[in-house]
Amino acid sequence: MRRAKIISTGRYLPPKVVTNKDMEKLVPTSDEWIRERTGIEQRYFVDLKPGEELGVSDLAYEASKIALERAGMQPSDIDLIIFATLSPDYVFPGSGVLLGKNLGIPGVGALDVRNQCSGFIYALSVADAYIRAGIYDHILIAGAEIHSTGLEYNEHGRHVTVLFGDGAGVVILGPSEDEEHGILSTHLHADGRYALELCAINPGSRRVPRIYPEMLTDHSMYPHMNGREVFKHAVTKFPKAIMEAMEANNLTLDDVKLVIPHQANLRISEAVAQRMKLKPGQLYSNIQRYGNTTAASIPIALDEVLEQGMLERDDIVIMAAFGSGFTWASAAIRWS
Ligand code: ACO
Repeated sequence: MRRAKIISTGRYLPPKVVTNKDMEKLVPTSDEWIRERTGIEQRYFVDLKPGEELGVSDLAYEASKIALERAGMQPSDIDLIIFATLSPDYVFPGSGVLLGKNLGIPGVGALDVRNQCSGFIYALSVADAYIRAGIYDHILIAGAEIHSTGLEYNEHGRHVTVLFGDGAGVVILGPSEDEEHGILSTHLHADGRYALELCAINPGSRRVPRIYPEMLTDHSMYPHMNGREVFKHAVTKFPKAIMEAMEANNLTLDDVKLVIPHQANLRISEAVAQRMKLKPGQLYSNIQRYGNTTAASIPIALDEVLEQGMLERDDIVIMAAFGSGFTWASAAIRWS
């Protein structure tokens, strides 16, 4: 049986570092409140002046160049782009086509995935299926977000605004040399009954007129989050997703080298580690430095993990995500 494996990774963070002290100048908050509730110390924001333009496709392009170079590949070696984001460059078309334009590969298919915090694992499952089926050989997955230009810098939105950061992570997948290594399984879930607990509803197609003057003041264009409901579901769905990945492959926690969760909130990750009785260091956290970068958070974390030499051949990695939708997902990989 043919399997897919991760060949290479890259990450790109925009140059502007926004510490919690900087955040205190943008919204009524404090370094102490942010650290205590979320573990976040700083995040990266794009630095755009009015009239300037930069999109998630541009951040993903920078990360793609690094991943391609590390793989010793040219853009023309890529057979398909999959782009996961909740903050696309435009309402339409999707950001995948723009990344394809940046990479100079016209004609190569580009698929956009809209599953927010779970977007990277949803994208990974699609790429895995295509490669297993022999339809494509090399697939580039980008997870990229620009949150900073779409947040509410006031008291109403501050519980959301302090959480998020901008950035991009890219992985390149290809066929594994053997059946034992690579992506072992992926598992996807969704429950739309909770769609409005974590959402940005406008401009959406449900309303007539779609664009109306009160949109500027009724908060409906900004992210809405029921933080307690998100927390409650996250701390049960993350462990379920991780367990599902282990059970599907007859693995126990002792077999797992590293769990790389979507970096939602350090308190959520700590609660998951505690509930699952993970060993110290078995769950990777970097939200302290990046904030929550949604679809970019797992590929950014994986890129750091590889840079630090934390994974060796045969190591088992479990990736898990939970987020808006609600959606949750996991993947099990035997590293090659
Ligand atoms: N700075 C200072 N004070 C704040 C801020 C802020 N940024 N935001 C809210 N507050 C205040 C509130 O106004 C409130 O004040 P009051 O008691 O005087 O009314 C107080 O802090 C508590 O507000 P709550 O909203 O009830 O805060 P809570 O204790 O629930 O913590 C938080 C909020 C951190 C968002 C928490 O609900 C949480 O961790 N939820 C999980 C959500 C999450 O992590 N989402 C990540 C994105 S989604 C994902 O990736 C899965």
